[in-house]
Order: sequence, then structure tokens, then C-alpha cells
Amino acid sequence: TAPTGDPTSSAPTASTAIVNIGTLVTNDPSLGSGPLGLIHDAAVVIDGGRIAWIGTHSETPPTDSHHDAGGRAVIPGFVDSHSHLLFAGDRTDEFNARMSGRPYTAGGIRTTVAATRRATDAQLAANLTALLTEMRRQGTTTVEVKSGYGLTAEHESRALRVAREHAEETTYLGAHVVPAEYAAAPDAYVARVTGPMLDACAPHARWIDVFCEEGAFDADQARAVLTAGRARGLLPRVHANQLTAGPGVRLAVELGAASADHCTHLTDADVDALAQGSTVATLLPGCEFSTRAPYPDARRLLDAGAVVALATDCNPGSSFTSSMPFCVAVAVREMGMTPDEALWSATAGGAAALRRADIGHLTPGARADLALLDAPSPSHLAYRPGVPLVAAVWQGGHRVA
Ligand code: NIG
Ligand code: FE
Repeated sequence: TAPTGDPTSSAPTASTAIVNIGTLVTNDPSLGSGPLGLIHDAAVVIDGGRIAWIGTHSETPPTDSHHDAGGRAVIPGFVDSHSHLLFAGDRTDEFNARMSGRPYTAGGIRTTVAATRRATDAQLAANLTALLTEMRRQGTTTVEVKSGYGLTAEHESRALRVAREHAEETTYLGAHVVPAEYAAAPDAYVARVTGPMLDACAPHARWIDVFCEEGAFDADQARAVLTAGRARGLLPRVHANQLTAGPGVRLAVELGAASADHCTHLTDADVDALAQGSTVATLLPGCEFSTRAPYPDARRLLDAGAVVALATDCNPGSSFTSSMPFCVAVAVREMGMTPDEALWSATAGGAAALRRADIGHLTPGARADLALLDAPSPSHLAYRPGVPLVAAVWQGGHRVA
């Protein structure tokens, strides 16, 4: 059966036009001006959950209903391609300690593992849906959700089962850290991750991920995890080069992973590999914000020719934000991106990182995922940081916020 997280599973049949759009971002340069394919004085027709027509306001065909955008901007819904929403508890104390000078380490993950194992399925689902609602209100229409706070076959698979009911992109992250009970036998833990845990999780996930880092999994362990997942039909993505310039990015490119995520510490060879390979560099500015780490250099990646995505990394440890507009604003201020580049990376870039052709752009046939901004131009997402600018959201043609 189709997961209920699929917004197209109950597509409406009546057509709707969104008219009087001051600036429409299509992300299709063949439809409008510049790399974002901007159309001014535009209209969009939604039918059957898809974009049926795009053009200038004065040529809008008749529809069953319409919504007046009042001259404001419409953008594709944000595609948040990296989050960890299956958890219980929070880590406010750890955050406070960091803000008085303590460094971030991956060790805090075990705190959340303990709380998550104690939670009921209903508690995990309630936390997940609350965060997904927060995201939707801020314009996000596709979310990737990882497991990784269960770290047993039972707890990882139930996390993914719960995730599948509410999110369309699910990722098995049994290789998040070595849990406390395997601290003395990390390779035995990798054997669990690639054996019985994979068997239990593969039916509920599309992707497999590994945290390739000092203090988590080394290159050989990470390769073993990803190749075992791939043999079961899961597609690889990697937590790479977050804390050190380690082997994660090169491993991701070598295996043709859809995305290498974090990319905070990159060598020139890493940048070249990303520029030449098919792996998207997904940057997670909420993480550097919340760990006081240096921001990744998006400019360096873009100038080299890499494809860059932006995502929240929403999780209770390193990045407890659900806001793509926040990530766009930080990426512009701190990472060398223009407002247009950051918006592209938060929409089309996220779709590329999830290998999805049906989202991240507004063209006829694409899924009708859009956000109306309380602003005349999409640059306001960075120009007016911290201001709630998302006025309305459609997901699969349904008005959801
Ligand atoms: O993407 N890097 C590993 N995983 C998460 C952090 C999870 C946590 O601290 O609980 C991340 O930042
Ligand atoms: Fe992460």
C-alpha cells in the first residue's frame, strides 16, 4: 500500500489557479529569466495534485477555484533532504554547555538513543508529526527522515515503520554511532548493522546512510555498511567530513552516493571529487550554528562546479531547527551564497540530493508543491532573516498551511 506520507495518494480532482503572482520561481531556466526561471505577473494552475499550467496572469485558463497571491512571490516547496526526526527527549543541557565553551562530540547521540529506546511508538509518532507540521508551516513539502537513535534491529525498524507512515523519504542509519553496549566490539556492531538490523529495516527504507567520522565509523566500516545496503536495494548517502577532513566525501563519490552531507571540512581533492562526480554536496548550516563550528564554504564548492543542496539536519543534538528559511538566510550570510543560489539549493538542490525529478521545480507535470511568501521577492528569505514569511503552502495540490 502507498505510504500515507505520499501527498499524491489522495489527489484532489478540482482545478485551482494561483493568480496574481508578482514573482514566480520555477527553477526552470527555459520557462523564465535567470537560473531560477523567474516569471513576473504569473499564474499557476494545479490539477490532480500536479502543476497543469504555468504562464502569465492575463492568460490564466478557467479553473474551478482560484487563490489571489496579491502580487507576492511563489516558490517551489522546500525539499529538506536531511533530518533525524525519530527521537525522544531533548538535549538543552548539552546545548547550554556548548554555548559556554564545551565542544560538540558525537557522543551525545547516545543520550538520545537511551531516551528513544524508552519511548512508545505513539510518543515517537507524536514528536515526528509535530516537527513535520512545523516544517510544513515554514514551506517544506518534502522531508527525508532518518532512523539512527534506536541502534538495535527492533528499535531501528520500528523507527522506520513510524517514519514511513508520515514521510515519503526514509533512511536507515543504524550506523549512526556504535551504541554503548558494543563500545568494546565495534566490528561486531557493524556485523549487526549489515546483518539482522538491515534485514529488519530494508523493507521500510529507500536509503542507507552512515556517519563516517572519527568517533563513529571509519572508511572500511562505512564502505561495508553502504555496500551491504546497496545489495539490498537501498541507495547510499553519507554523513561526511563534519568534524574532520576525513574519508567520507571521497567514499561517497566512489560509491556514487546521491549525497555527501555536512562537507564542513574539505580538502581540495574532496572539492574536485564532488565537482566531477554525481554526488550532491548537502550543507547543513543549522549544525554549524548550533555547534559553533566553522560554516562550510559553499562558494568554493559552487565555483568548482559542484551541485549544492541545503537541508536542516533537524535533530535534538547538533541542529534543532526545522526551518529551511533559517538555513537559507545563514547560507547567504555565512557561506558565500547569493539569495538565488541558496533558494535553488533549498529546493532543486534538495530534490537532486534525493534523486527526485518530480519536486523542487514548478513546471507542468511536477508535483504541486508550492509556498506563497509574504514578500514581493524570494530574496526576502535572506534579506528579512527570522521573519515568518511563509503565508500559504500547497503539497500535492492540497492546501496544507
Ligand atoms: O547529522 N553527525 C551525526 N549525526 C547528527 C547529529 C546527531 C546528534 O548529535 O544527535 C548530525 O549532525
Ligand atoms: Fe545528520
